[in-house]
Amino acid sequence: MNALPHPTTGAIGVFDSGYGGLTILDKIRKLMPEYDYIYLGDNARTPYGTRSFEVVYEFTLQAVDKLFELGCPLVILACNTASAKALRTIQQVNLPVIDETRRVLGVIRPTAERIGDMTQSRHVGLLATAGTIKSESYLLEIHKLFPDITVTGEACPMWVPLVENNEFESPGADYFVQQYIDRLLAQDPEIDTIILGCTHYPLLLDKIKQFVPPHVHIVAQGEYVAHSLQDYLNRHPEMNRRCTKQGNCRFLTTESEDKFKESASIFLQQEHIEVESIALE
Ligand code: DGL
Repeated sequence: MNALPHPTTGAIGVFDSGYGGLTILDKIRKLMPEYDYIYLGDNARTPYGTRSFEVVYEFTLQAVDKLFELGCPLVILACNTASAKALRTIQQVNLPVIDETRRVLGVIRPTAERIGDMTQSRHVGLLATAGTIKSESYLLEIHKLFPDITVTGEACPMWVPLVENNEFESPGADYFVQQYIDRLLAQDPEIDTIILGCTHYPLLLDKIKQFVPPHVHIVAQGEYVAHSLQDYLNRHPEMNRRCTKQGNCRFLTTESEDKFKESASIFLQQEHIEVESIALE
């Protein structure tokens, strides 16, 4: 990617491997409806959760490049797997070359920051994709802030397909929801706080609650990410000025427009959306 002209003004970019980031976008827009947003879902290449570091990094960088091309001064990786596997390299290696005035932020740090206040036992569980668990990004971020907290992870490979296929409320989903929760709590029975470290999982929240003891706090990250972004913009008025504010939201997908519209309705409380199909390379 060549250097881009700066400083640009434009929408806030929100990227996910697919639909899950819509749960984050939804919370961000509720908190800050006045801003413009461009949501980009790499639906043609989802899921990222089972892909290697190299591939997730390559795909995520392509998406960030596209959102920068469209003028976004700030991009949120609303995908835990992309945040875990690509964010740091993009921030440290690519941004200084592309345009050092733009910013790319993730969803793991805002969640990690809140954990210290939530857990009494100091034993925290993490449910996420295999890629996020393997990356140990949550462990590293939480330990930077709260070294006394024990973090135990369990990968939930069946949960994203359950949500993507609109089976998350079906009786069949119970088996897989309970299985991963039981495995997590068997690893560490002292867990009193469970992070849903994947953007799809908030849709399973009602089911998850059925299989978690009542004293265990479940953390869905959308609101934390939204508040963290608002706080970031308050602390960085120069970036805030560059984020345009006409209340528009544009949706882009690497899949077909019809397919995106059909499934996006599961994640968004919005009847009608305009979608454009784009290619990433
Ligand atoms: N959005 C991804 C995440 O939050 C889940 C879907 C995927 O595996 O691509 O980890």
